[in-house]
Amino acid sequence: MTPEPIAAFMAGLFDGPMPGRVRLLDAGAGEGSLTAAFIARWTGSPIEAHAYECDPAIAARLQTTLHRLADQAGSAPQVLMEDFVQAAARMARLGQGPRYTHAILNPPYRKIGNGSQHRALLRAVGLETVNLYSGFVGLALELLAPGGRLVAIIPRSFCNGPYYQPFRSFMLRRAAIRHLHLFTARDAVFRRNGVLQENVIISLERGADQGPVTVSTSTDDSFADYESRPCPAGTILPLHNPGCFIHIPTEALAEQFDGSGPFRFRLVELGIDVSTGPVVDFRLRDNLRPMPEPGAVPLLYSSHFSAGGIRWPIAGIKKPNAIVHTQATAKYLYPNGFYAVVRRFSSKEEKRRIVAAVVDPGDVLGAALGFENHLNVFHRRRTPLSEPIARGLVAYLSTTAVDRYFRQFNGHTQVNATDLRTLRFPDIEALTQLGEWAKAHRDAPQDAIDRQVQTMA
Ligand SMILES: C[S@@+](CC[C@H](N)C(=O)[O-])C[C@H]1O[C@@H](n2cnc3c(N)ncnc32)[C@H](O)[C@@H]1O
Repeated sequence: MTPEPIAAFMAGLFDGPMPGRVRLLDAGAGEGSLTAAFIARWTGSPIEAHAYECDPAIAARLQTTLHRLADQAGSAPQVLMEDFVQAAARMARLGQGPRYTHAILNPPYRKIGNGSQHRALLRAVGLETVNLYSGFVGLALELLAPGGRLVAIIPRSFCNGPYYQPFRSFMLRRAAIRHLHLFTARDAVFRRNGVLQENVIISLERGADQGPVTVSTSTDDSFADYESRPCPAGTILPLHNPGCFIHIPTEALAEQFDGSGPFRFRLVELGIDVSTGPVVDFRLRDNLRPMPEPGAVPLLYSSHFSAGGIRWPIAGIKKPNAIVHTQATAKYLYPNGFYAVVRRFSSKEEKRRIVAAVVDPGDVLGAALGFENHLNVFHRRRTPLSEPIARGLVAYLSTTAVDRYFRQFNGHTQVNATDLRTLRFPDIEALTQLGEWAKAHRDAPQDAIDRQVQTMA
């Protein structure tokens, strides 16, 4: 349930004059803290509120909370003990139902199965999405009147990655983003089911043109160190943005990485590709070998990462060290040479999200290399990089600034090739110089790498 200070903050984000007749939607209303905060904030305006809650026990408590607010709101808020997805999808499909002027949401967070009824209902209104929270926000938007405002607290995972792309596109076609608030403490706010999830409060305006977005931060729900600044729309929603990614810059740091800073190039502009490691080990089980042997070539896993490089082979690890090189496996292999590799998965305890390593052909013996599926590999059309570029990429990806920047637009613990494609890099010349510096300073500590990259900013 939303703590009171967050509920009050969210209610305060509905700025601008109140319409004569306010129609408020609270979907997944729980015990009513958001509706209560809204009514408290806008006391004096007559408010007709609809609070959806499908759990009968919670709905009973909701009824009690809202009943008490009838005088303040000017009429008794209605509790609708229904499944919001069913009710809203029905209304949206029929083009019926109330056109809300305001929606305030802390929706449920639960995956929606591909074959489930919720998935089918959402699909029927044109929303292909994988989680109830994005389903709720999409449906609430659909039920808003033109100019209507929506404020929701939701996991940040919707901002990037392919799964939420249809939701982002659905949302951005209907509304402009007005405000984004981030909590910067990693574990203070809403740890749901122990899953690492950063949350964002988003304020949207239905049917409006996208203008500057206010971006604010606070460490936690005391809002003691609240800061906000306007950001040009292009910083949040870059112009060339087929994936509809939403970047949330929170610090001056972000200015280095936006479209005009020194680190502004995408990999595609640098002629560098990044791919998920093509060797899915259980599919190629018969071809894997515990240790190198004639006819086999190195197979690299995350377990081979060691201090920014690769240690191979490692006797006694659970994973195989080699894969046989045959006509059948050749299509999964890359020619041996220099590459940069990044782990796809980190655990929530790990300090860094991006963990990168240089593959140096001097460390891995064989004509070809296998990259296992839990790695991302940087290459040029499936051929090796030059040594300075491989080293430059790894040094750059290993900086504290890049890791922090990456976290700003990535709320989950995975680092996928798509994420790396949207990240910004220095140009080829700067990467080459950085790589040469990194080669000469192989054991450079973190702060030395950070300082070296800062000199390029
Ligand atoms: C994360 S809680 C938030 C509660 C409240 N909005 C708050 O901020 O305190 C989400 C609520 O949605 C309710 N819920 C889950 N699925 C629902 C559905 N399909 N329709 C309506 N309510 C639902 C849950 O019972 C839960 O009370």
